[in-house]
Amino acid sequence: MPERKRVLTGDRPTGKLHLGHYVGSLANRIALQDEHDLFLLVANLHALTTKTDTANQLENIHTLVLDQLAAGIDPEKATFYLQSDVPEIAELGVILSMLVTHSMATNVPTLKEVLRDLNIESPSMGLIVYPVLMAADILIGKAHVVPVGKDQTSHLELAREVARRFNTTYGDMFPVPEALIPKDSGTLPGLDGKAKMSKSLGNDIKLSDDPATVEAKVMEMYTDPNHVHVNDPGSVEGNVVFTFLDIFDVNKAEVADLKEHYRKGGLGDVVIKKRLAAVLNEFLEPMRARRAELEKNPDQIKEVLRAGTEKMRLIARATLEEVKEKMRINYLA
Ligand code: TRP
Repeated sequence: MPERKRVLTGDRPTGKLHLGHYVGSLANRIALQDEHDLFLLVANLHALTTKTDTANQLENIHTLVLDQLAAGIDPEKATFYLQSDVPEIAELGVILSMLVTHSMATNVPTLKEVLRDLNIESPSMGLIVYPVLMAADILIGKAHVVPVGKDQTSHLELAREVARRFNTTYGDMFPVPEALIPKDSGTLPGLDGKAKMSKSLGNDIKLSDDPATVEAKVMEMYTDPNHVHVNDPGSVEGNVVFTFLDIFDVNKAEVADLKEHYRKGGLGDVVIKKRLAAVLNEFLEPMRARRAELEKNPDQIKEVLRAGTEKMRLIARATLEEVKEKMRINYLA
């Protein structure tokens, strides 16, 4: 039997997941879980690189796992694990940092974006070594494929370079991990029409929003500012309601008719918004049902994360032993 590909990815636990996360990554994880060994990291050390305040960490860790299970990731198929409870990752990070020059780390475009967006004048060492720790996350699991967003491309490049450097310096051992980056359709716009749905922009619909909240948010969605009266011709392009209908409404023929009607004039925003709210609520309904089930027994989340973390530790220990052997630093072994 051919060996199953090991797919590994993760997120910083920073709060509730939204529809943008679903479209951009969760849908893909759900699709991958049947045919691959899927490892899902809760990157809580990475979360500290820009926010040392840990008041919400426990809650955010819980939420990240709960949201993914509610979304349809099966804990029997995917392995969830907690970064700070796999200490081998940090140890491998220190070792790998010797193979990364200071300028390689500081030239990562993603770092520059974070410094600019968060107005950080003096980054911590933790933030500088972010990509090295991420390389350790990936290499400790000997992952073949790493699904990530476009913003993570430079981090993946660095991880690939680290794998190659290790392999040429100490002998072949790491697969050079491949990035799996969603096409542009992987980005969902925000309610306000901005390019990206994001928590910090406050333009999101959470996977855990209740039906009334979803409806209220949809009613505020950006449509066509020139579509003032019902009978005015309206624009479908750049109209967030239609972008969402294209993604979530399974009845493509009806959506096509609605678009035509809207372009001609005579179709009001409220009508298409009501339809979208109903479509989204139907889409979210199975997640609500699973969430309600999971919330009956909150310990389940901890059990899933504990079991996955134990499984990952065995893999991590074996990898680290092999690393030390290859590097000939295993004198006491
Ligand atoms: N940097 C990733 C992000 O912000 C999260 C992450 C940490 C990750 N370690 C990883 C993703 C390893 C994939 C593999 O989205």
